[in-house]
Amino acid sequence: MENGNPLRDPADRRMPRIAGPCGMVIFGVTGDLSRRKVMPAIYDLANRGLLPPGFSVVGFARRDWVDQDFAQIVHDSVKAHARTEFREEVWRQLAEGIRFVQGDFSDDLAFEKLRHTIEELDEVRGTGGNHAFYLAIPPGFFGDAVGQLKEHGLVDPADESWRRVVIEKPFGHDLESARELNRMIDQVFPPESIFRIDHYLGKETVQNILAMRFANAMFEPIWNSNYVDHVQITMAEDLGIGGRAGYYDGIGAARDVIQNHLLQLMALVAMEEPTSFDAESLRLEKQKVLRSVVLPRRLDLNTARGQYAPGWAGGAQVPGFLDEEGIGPSSTTETYAAIRLDVETRRWAGVPFYLRTGKRLGRRVTEVAVVFKRAPHQPFSAVSTEELTHNTLVIRIQPDEGMTLRFGSKVPGTQMEIRDVSMDFAYGGTFTEASPEAYERLILDVLLGDPPLFPQHEEVELSWQILDPILDHWDRQDRTGKGKPEQYASGGWGPESADKMLARDGRAWRRP
Ligand code: BG6
Repeated sequence: MENGNPLRDPADRRMPRIAGPCGMVIFGVTGDLSRRKVMPAIYDLANRGLLPPGFSVVGFARRDWVDQDFAQIVHDSVKAHARTEFREEVWRQLAEGIRFVQGDFSDDLAFEKLRHTIEELDEVRGTGGNHAFYLAIPPGFFGDAVGQLKEHGLVDPADESWRRVVIEKPFGHDLESARELNRMIDQVFPPESIFRIDHYLGKETVQNILAMRFANAMFEPIWNSNYVDHVQITMAEDLGIGGRAGYYDGIGAARDVIQNHLLQLMALVAMEEPTSFDAESLRLEKQKVLRSVVLPRRLDLNTARGQYAPGWAGGAQVPGFLDEEGIGPSSTTETYAAIRLDVETRRWAGVPFYLRTGKRLGRRVTEVAVVFKRAPHQPFSAVSTEELTHNTLVIRIQPDEGMTLRFGSKVPGTQMEIRDVSMDFAYGGTFTEASPEAYERLILDVLLGDPPLFPQHEEVELSWQILDPILDHWDRQDRTGKGKPEQYASGGWGPESADKMLARDGRAWRRP
């Protein structure tokens, strides 16, 4: 569905997709997400000519600001974080549509003022009654915010116009709270007007998983348990928790990124070909994967968790997790998590999916590695193939975007010696244009009302259904003293228990 601009034929991929008349109201404008991601992405879209000329941005926050103060904040965040170059004329046009409304979520007058501001913008900027409400706020406030929007008549669009809400994870902290959150939002907005952001789905390389699998002939025939030994999905970060103790403590690595980003990656890698790429068909296939996931019986042997210890990163001494400001010395929040999942379908029976993520690891890298079985027969001597490992297809999500195929080749010389070599595809060397930021794509899709890249509440709930027993298991270990997060060296590759977990299956983690 693309209803942004009726003059453009949505099927014509040569035409850029440009949003029709509209505006965005951002709640939580003083937060990191707004400053680093949302506002810069809006500018980048404007700079690329993908926003309507009268686009408006309304900030809503408690600060005692006027329009100009907020415009200055947007300006500074654009200067600091936008991907594309700063152009005065683009900025000037955008700045004319910037407004600020002061208030908190209990302030009826502020929401009345918000309504008037939107009406004024419809008049002077031609936003046509079309507005997206971006809740860049902690989920504890979602209920109040959407309740007030409803109360003040902001969610019901006039004929032909639209109102949408954008929410960011965490979508709850377990299945029950996720259901509660969904119920709350569903009461106010119809499902097609709710856009849940999982920013990994906005990444070019993540969307490319579908292109790679379904536009080519050569991958799909071997994409199953006959050929694949196992799949490793890694999201490693070199940074620690930074100043996010308030958010991170009690959340941890599994809730922070496995519940959303990594399970979405797994669903894209494992799903069947959808009947089309519309939202409904895609979601159906992803849901089937998530529904087919089975947890190992022994969670103690098939999960691992850790906390980074003090050490060195980027040439500087860094504190351990338990010494970070705002983290108590007895915190059991994990900064590293690894789990084994099995997808019980004909295609994947017997092929484990290993997911891992961690902070303060050796390098920032996200990748999916599909590790193939060895050839059923080797006509070469054991010595000749000593340095031949498993054929592997690595989808490099970031930062070095591309794909690598590892396979065996003869080493030049008089002997038959076979070892691993790589064939490489790099975005940087292939495409002239840099990939847009995930938030550019996702915000544009919100404004166009184009839903395929946004998980629906079923996917969110299914993901919690997978994670809840693991979180309960860790919680039980904490309470009974039968286990706790293992300390791992900063700059290393995670706790020993994670290595042992794979070693027990006769496998090893890749060292990206
Ligand atoms: C966020 C997590 O969703 O993703 C952060 O909350 C994490 O903890 C971030 O650092 C990583 O995003 P990216 O796009 O840099 O991989």
